[in-house]
Amino acid sequence: MCGIVGYTGPRKAVPILIDGLRKLEYRGYDSAGLAVIEKEGLIVDKAAGKISRLEEKIRGKNFEATCGIAHTRWATHGEPTTVNAHPHFDSKEKIAIVHNGIIENYRSLREYLEKNGHQFGTETDTEILAHLIEEYYEGDLLEAVRTALVFVEGTYGIAVISANHPGEIVVARSGSPLVIGCGQGENFVASDVSALVRHTRQVVYLEEGEIAHITPDDFKISTIDKVAISPNVQQIEWSLEAIEKGGYDHFMLKEIFEQPTAVANAFRGRLNYEEGTSRLHGLTLQYEQLLKINRVLLMACGTSWHAGLIGEYIIEDLARIPVEVEYASEFRYRAPIIQDGTVAFVISQSGETADTLAALREAKRKGATVLGICNVVGSSIARETDGGIYIHAGPEIGVASTKAFTSQIMVLEMIGVLLARMRDMSIEKGRQIVAAIKKIPEQIEGILSTSDRIKSIAETYAASSNFLYLGRGINFPVALEGALKMKEISYIHAEGYPAAEMKHGPIALIDENMPAVVVALKDQVYDKVMSNIQEIKARNGRILAIATEGDTEIARMVDHVIYIPQVPYHLTPLLSIIPLQLLAYHTAVLRGCDVDQPRNLAKSVTVE
Ligand code: G6P
Repeated sequence: MCGIVGYTGPRKAVPILIDGLRKLEYRGYDSAGLAVIEKEGLIVDKAAGKISRLEEKIRGKNFEATCGIAHTRWATHGEPTTVNAHPHFDSKEKIAIVHNGIIENYRSLREYLEKNGHQFGTETDTEILAHLIEEYYEGDLLEAVRTALVFVEGTYGIAVISANHPGEIVVARSGSPLVIGCGQGENFVASDVSALVRHTRQVVYLEEGEIAHITPDDFKISTIDKVAISPNVQQIEWSLEAIEKGGYDHFMLKEIFEQPTAVANAFRGRLNYEEGTSRLHGLTLQYEQLLKINRVLLMACGTSWHAGLIGEYIIEDLARIPVEVEYASEFRYRAPIIQDGTVAFVISQSGETADTLAALREAKRKGATVLGICNVVGSSIARETDGGIYIHAGPEIGVASTKAFTSQIMVLEMIGVLLARMRDMSIEKGRQIVAAIKKIPEQIEGILSTSDRIKSIAETYAASSNFLYLGRGINFPVALEGALKMKEISYIHAEGYPAAEMKHGPIALIDENMPAVVVALKDQVYDKVMSNIQEIKARNGRILAIATEGDTEIARMVDHVIYIPQVPYHLTPLLSIIPLQLLAYHTAVLRGCDVDQPRNLAKSVTVE
């Protein structure tokens, strides 16, 4: 999410900054900006839209500056406008800052600063930080940044310059990566090595809670608590293309592995353990309006539709509100019935899917309140809805959606908990769910660590022409999504079915050449799914089961098992889908398929 570049040295800074931004454009591209220190002071230029817009804006300007910072943005707080673009500055326009991450306590910091006379020109959390640094500035930029950060809660990777300190850059990291590039008489900073590898392959990764003071000839790293750190200079060996993919072979694999962070970003700052509920300000509905909801409509396409199906189980079970899930493409051409109390959510990673946009407009026309669950800030769907919740998964580049899916489920879980706590759910149950949500990133991490084993399982099945995916209850949509992933990228025909429906047709297909992937977790339908497994075995079918840790019985009945930790029922899809994503990925790679750009598919389907 978002990209940062900085330079200090003898060369003109602007071409280096622009080139660095271009390398980071895949991380965010809704607005961009730069700040450099000229003789007359700080010069800031910004533009909404892609980096080319910023380039157009500065074309013809003669920059002499040899020190500066730049940013390409993936908006979180505030619309992706020129005003909200980074860098942001303090009230005297002496300090400029670029920031990746989210400052969770920005509201209380803003109130504090307003009481001290600060006025703000943007809706961003980052501007608050610029003013906070100004508040503590007493002639030493490093110390001012250090003091300000003591008061910040949330995540950040920041780079700061000041007109009073030509040639100096201060950077700091907490939860959002930053790397220093070491040159000869010049130094670089970036949120990602791809932005600086053209200039140097000697880098130092800042660790959590570290701050650095950088000049052309030197850089010094310390902790926020002033403990000096000796830098660990590393040599980058990867190719540029590999670097953009963070060392992964494909964007899809990178995005699968980003899921612990992505789902944490989806719930960051939105959970309230004390009250056992969630805070979702983006819904923009008053308490009374939320209480009056008597029907929820979820509309989406593709993977987002599968997230909607999971949302149906979550919201109905937790909040006891009737939910309907519709393909957006079907909804738009029916005569849907919208009554008082109906709230519709449109779910879309891109926020640009034509059918979903049309369904949104149709639902609004008929009087529904329509809210969005989107990833791309400022997208058409985000703009046209009455409110909504961003999933904050960061740019998703692989055509087959992975991290957006789990982040959408996380948001639906929080909606379910919020609506449930306003109705029948007890505070104790709410707290249990909130506590369980917080453990999910770590549990996903654990499943990802079995990727090599899943690859060896994929080798067993990669030559198959057909796959059957089975699941029940909330894991039935997981079976659908697992099958979709497999067919999208490996071109193997794969069908997802509710396990009990197998006997009404698909069982006719089962033989030793048609493997079945069965999600068989220890839940209320476990015994039923085990019967399905026996039926498959009786017909010589091969089975890969996704099972609950500790279930040794299943291992005796199936050919392969991948275990996931026991979590509350509604959270199981967040874990059970991970091995299925990896299975599809490894199978596609083994078959030599173009994983990131599968044939005939598009990332964002903006036509009907
Ligand atoms: C396309 C993509 C899918 C995605 C679907 C819906 O088909 O290839 O990965 O799930 O569109 O996209 P949206 O952006 O609306 O979630």
